[in-house]
Amino acid sequence: MNFKAIILAAGKGTRMKSKHPKVVHKVCGKEMVNHVIDVSKKSGVEDVVVILGHGSETVKTQIPQDSMIAMQTEQLGTGHAVLMAKEYINDNDTIVVLCGDTPLVKEETLKRLFDYHIENQYHATVLTTKVENPTGYGRIIRDENEDLLKIVEQKDANEEEKKAKEINSGIYCFDGKSLRESLDLLDNNNAQGEYYLTDTIKIMRDKGQKVGAYNGSTIEELMGVNSRVELSKAEEIMRRRINESHMVNGVTIIDVNSTYIESDVEIGNDTIVYPGAMLKGNTKIGSSCIIGMNSSITNSTIGDYTEVESSTIIDSTVGENTTVGPYAYLRPKSNIGNNVKIGDFVEVKNATIEDNSKASHLSYIGDAHVGKNVNIGCGVVFVNYDGKNKFKSVVKDGAFVGSNSNLVAPVTVEEKGYIATGSTITDDVPQGALAIARQKQVVKTGWVEKKDSKDNK
Ligand code: UD1
Ligand code: CA
Repeated sequence: MNFKAIILAAGKGTRMKSKHPKVVHKVCGKEMVNHVIDVSKKSGVEDVVVILGHGSETVKTQIPQDSMIAMQTEQLGTGHAVLMAKEYINDNDTIVVLCGDTPLVKEETLKRLFDYHIENQYHATVLTTKVENPTGYGRIIRDENEDLLKIVEQKDANEEEKKAKEINSGIYCFDGKSLRESLDLLDNNNAQGEYYLTDTIKIMRDKGQKVGAYNGSTIEELMGVNSRVELSKAEEIMRRRINESHMVNGVTIIDVNSTYIESDVEIGNDTIVYPGAMLKGNTKIGSSCIIGMNSSITNSTIGDYTEVESSTIIDSTVGENTTVGPYAYLRPKSNIGNNVKIGDFVEVKNATIEDNSKASHLSYIGDAHVGKNVNIGCGVVFVNYDGKNKFKSVVKDGAFVGSNSNLVAPVTVEEKGYIATGSTITDDVPQGALAIARQKQVVKTGWVEKKDSKDNK
């Protein structure tokens, strides 16, 4: 048996009013279709087939490489969409069908659906829920024994059927062979002139196959996103879920409503996250950290006991017990060690700064390797660019770079080299040497008095 998901994602999403296909719009930093793919895999699905149509070239570049793809060039209905994946549906497969625009469906719900389907040996099981207002949804029609009889679309339902409060989620489990055979029997003799996937239920039942309805979901999970307003509702629900899961794991979030943590971020326990923090992409934060207000951390790793305050960190790593900010900017490929201080208005790019070093204020450190126990004074600039090419500087362990100095790359400061404040360093500094590269001060005693008497003549 092979467990496969077929994910319907061929629709255009006209109401999004977007040049991008609907399913690649993001909820908490992840494309809707990828939420659906990830949750299916977490719940046990081995292979994923995505049905693509509108904007297929774009969607293809966003989904995992191992996804199988079936094209539906004309959207003739949900049944027709699944039919496009026929070659992937094998007799012994268990097939779960989902939609690419329902990003909120939960792993636990899918697992329970699969268990229900397998335990009862159904040929098809539809996931359902009961709602006060079923308008727009397909209705679940049960027989006198409460067994599933059929699903009727809103537009095809009679007055009696419309009253049914149990609705079709659009998520199903099928036995591969039964699904493939019933897809071949679908027609489009209905109010919308479409090939309905929902009709497979009646087809199977009429053949004497066992079909079931599992009322095991909430309406919130099934929310389909069709507009930007719904996208923002989904974002809000997902954000709350993500924040709550971190709190359950021991993270303090001061204000859940103003903390933006994307889906794949990991945070260790006893870390405190302040309002306005945005933790994005593939970010990992250690334990006992403080992520201060308005910090934005993207695709970066932060070690335990580190504090980040009102700073931006992108594609970088920061060690343990280090402080960053306020107002620091770590651009891509910054690699900051343990017990380091990156202070206010310090910008780092493509640079390593090893353990116990400090750049406390107002510096630019680009294309550099800074060793251990180095002090970078206030206002130091690593001059890395001559207008055409970038060059690298090296400052070795124990060196001291005085305030307001320029290191004109390529240049090396050897161990314990000492640079006098205000120097513009263009040549290497040997180990333990002092380099002074500025004009010597001239003092003219009594100069002001002389000037004043001249001016007053
Ligand atoms: C469908 C169900 C309905 C259920 C509802 C839950 C059918 C006939 N009806 O209705 O019972 O209550 O979902 O949300 O299945 N798609 C394609 N190709 C197509 C048609 C649709 O890829 O040819 C995709 C759409 O992009 C969408 C999904 O399938 O993501 C659902 O299609 P949609 O037309 O919205 O179905 P509903 O009318 O909502
Ligand atoms: Ca829909």
